[in-house]
Amino acid sequence: MPIWSELGKKDQQELLAESRARYDGLKARSLRLDLSRGKPGPDALDFSNGILGALEDYHAEGGIDVRNYGVVDGLPELKRLFADLLGVPAGNMIVGGNSSLTHMYNTFAMLYLFGAPDGMGDMDCRPWHRGDAAKILCPVPGYDRHFNLSADFGAKLVNIPMEKDGPDMDEAERLAASDPSVKGIWVVPLYSNPAGSVLSREKALRLACMKAAAPDFRVFWDNAYGVHHLWEEHEAPDILSMCCEAGYPERAFYFFSTSKVNFPGSGVGLVATGPKTIERMKVHLKLQTIGFDKIPQLRTVRFFDGKAENVRLHMTKLAKVLRPKFEFVMDRLDAEFGGTGLLSYERPLGGYFISVDVPEGCAKKVVEIASEAGAALTPAGATFPYGKDPKDSNIRIAPTFPSLEDLADTLDIFCASVKLAALEKYLAV
Ligand SMILES: Cc1ncc(COP(=O)(O)O)c(C=O)c1O
Repeated sequence: MPIWSELGKKDQQELLAESRARYDGLKARSLRLDLSRGKPGPDALDFSNGILGALEDYHAEGGIDVRNYGVVDGLPELKRLFADLLGVPAGNMIVGGNSSLTHMYNTFAMLYLFGAPDGMGDMDCRPWHRGDAAKILCPVPGYDRHFNLSADFGAKLVNIPMEKDGPDMDEAERLAASDPSVKGIWVVPLYSNPAGSVLSREKALRLACMKAAAPDFRVFWDNAYGVHHLWEEHEAPDILSMCCEAGYPERAFYFFSTSKVNFPGSGVGLVATGPKTIERMKVHLKLQTIGFDKIPQLRTVRFFDGKAENVRLHMTKLAKVLRPKFEFVMDRLDAEFGGTGLLSYERPLGGYFISVDVPEGCAKKVVEIASEAGAALTPAGATFPYGKDPKDSNIRIAPTFPSLEDLADTLDIFCASVKLAALEKYLAV
């Protein structure tokens, strides 16, 4: 298909008629498909079945009986495993719970309700619920749960553009330096959600060093896809060390989980931060629980034999299952839209998603008509704070769950919907 806008009126009308016929044909098949779920398919989950039986003995290191209460910040051997895997100091870590989002929510709860040490660790700052509403910088497109979680506490969400190698740091620095109510920024360093991009070392350094008007300015570093390589392996910059070296040892909160390493919702979460803040977090945590469930923690250690290299090996097996799905989607998008001007995307470098842009003003329509034809997509706008994409253009594609067969049908509906919605808009039908 040539660039649609360079076609004559008659050819454009023909293209529209063709697109409508194709869409109607697909709709008549009454399929029920889903391209919205950012979770592994059963094919990937099967690689972790061994974790279910990985606990013949329930004693952890030092004789800890994992059936019983205690060890609020998590098993030492699991901390060591994560430390080796991620390069995060085991001493500044809490592991436990089944989700990193819980740690993110608890972190916000602490900052909002109780306050925490400032970035330098010199003094305690007042809770964020006092004074002007905190503003949180949100690189867009980004992860809706980060945005919704921050807004739940009353934060004002401020869009900043996401570039190929991370957030627009000129804008982040300008906003943070000039306004003391700017209290933090969300960052997904490796394989961002949804674009699958990699944060550069240079931008990580700028995050660590930037002068903020708020002494308790924080970097929420969600390394959810830190070991989820698809092709070449990339490494996330060591933000905790960078912040330390910049004189802000308490600035960053590092989050991770094994949700998409083993079983989502049945894995283990992690938060790490500066030494003073982690002690403060433990004080609050001890009032929430006498200890997280340590059984999944010990299972995780045993399944990987306590070795980071075994986690990496496991991830290469998962990548083998995921890679063909990503390649299938991208080949299909290239074949359908290459050179048409109707859809653009950047190849993700890893992670779980592909972020596409359709012509301005069309994303909502695409999602609506794709759903009517039987293909559920992530709601348009979900990748922006308050669900509002100012250009109504971005759509997140999640290719990990469906089989290749289902992906083919879903992509058919998606591509037909993009063409129909875009051509109808341009030709003002
Ligand atoms: C960037 C990001 N962070 C966190 C999560 C959720 O992680 P968890 O299951 O550990 O709460 C997701 C899930 O899609 C994600 O994309």
